[in-house]
Amino acid sequence: MRIVMTNQKGGVGKTTLAFHLATLFAADGNSVLALDLDPQANLTSCFMRSDLPPDNNVALLFEGGCPRPLTVGDHLDLVGTDSSLSKHEDHDASDHLEVIGSWLDAGDTHDVVVMDTPPAMGQFTRGALLAGDFAIIPADVSWFALKGLADLIASIEKLRSSHNAGIRPLGIVLNNIQERQSFAQETWAKLDDLYGHLLFKTTIPESVRVREAISQGIPVTRLDARGKAASAYRQLYKEIVARLEQSRGC
Ligand SMILES: Nc1ncnc2c1ncn2[C@@H]1O[C@H](COP(=O)(O)OP(=O)(O)OP(=O)(O)O)[C@@H](O)[C@H]1O
Ligand SMILES: [Mg+2]
Repeated sequence: MRIVMTNQKGGVGKTTLAFHLATLFAADGNSVLALDLDPQANLTSCFMRSDLPPDNNVALLFEGGCPRPLTVGDHLDLVGTDSSLSKHEDHDASDHLEVIGSWLDAGDTHDVVVMDTPPAMGQFTRGALLAGDFAIIPADVSWFALKGLADLIASIEKLRSSHNAGIRPLGIVLNNIQERQSFAQETWAKLDDLYGHLLFKTTIPESVRVREAISQGIPVTRLDARGKAASAYRQLYKEIVARLEQSRGC
């Protein structure tokens, strides 16, 4: 099963969610591949403090090679990247769209692949969506986010029909929620109106512990296991697993 974190809006929590989901799926006994398709390489940095060996770089896929997964934890492998990936990013080109899916189809045996994508609907994001089964959309609660979501869901639908792809939006995760944020509550109501069927009930609170966790490369579920953010990620994970089971059953 392949899950893509996506939102063309920057800084909404795609990488943070990819990191936490990958570690939670692995802790649950699934073999997991974390795949970093963003030249910012933030997901790679969550798992690795040192330089990524060239053999494990997803950039190889765009150079006619095959990256090797690097074990970064129990049941957890990484195909990471670095800024060298950016030379393969051509926003309008479609030459490499099939590369990610073809490589995974050819021999990947992980139970779960978690893909992180850049904040743009460029070649890497479209390639990941074409390779994926489910898209998870982290979003913040702002009017801009609201507008962007409509575009994003339309883009996913367009890819589905133009390439006969299997990707489906699994749900929208509201991230960075501050308590007693009245503006957010207003936007929340609008979101619920428009995307109620896609919204996950669990939201992720804004938490300094999440920022600390990311900067230390330790999931908040381990760094501050009893904290609010950790419990939100665990709750969200349960919701995601339940929705995946439901989706695969129909
Ligand atoms: N719930 C949260 N509470 C506090 N900080 C958070 C939370 N979620 C994410 N952050 C912080 O917000 C910043 C942006 O998060 P992240 O990198 O996951 O977003 P992104 O969508 O992947 O960004 P980009 O589009 O640039 O790839 C990071 O510094 C991260 O640590
Ligand atoms: Mg990111």
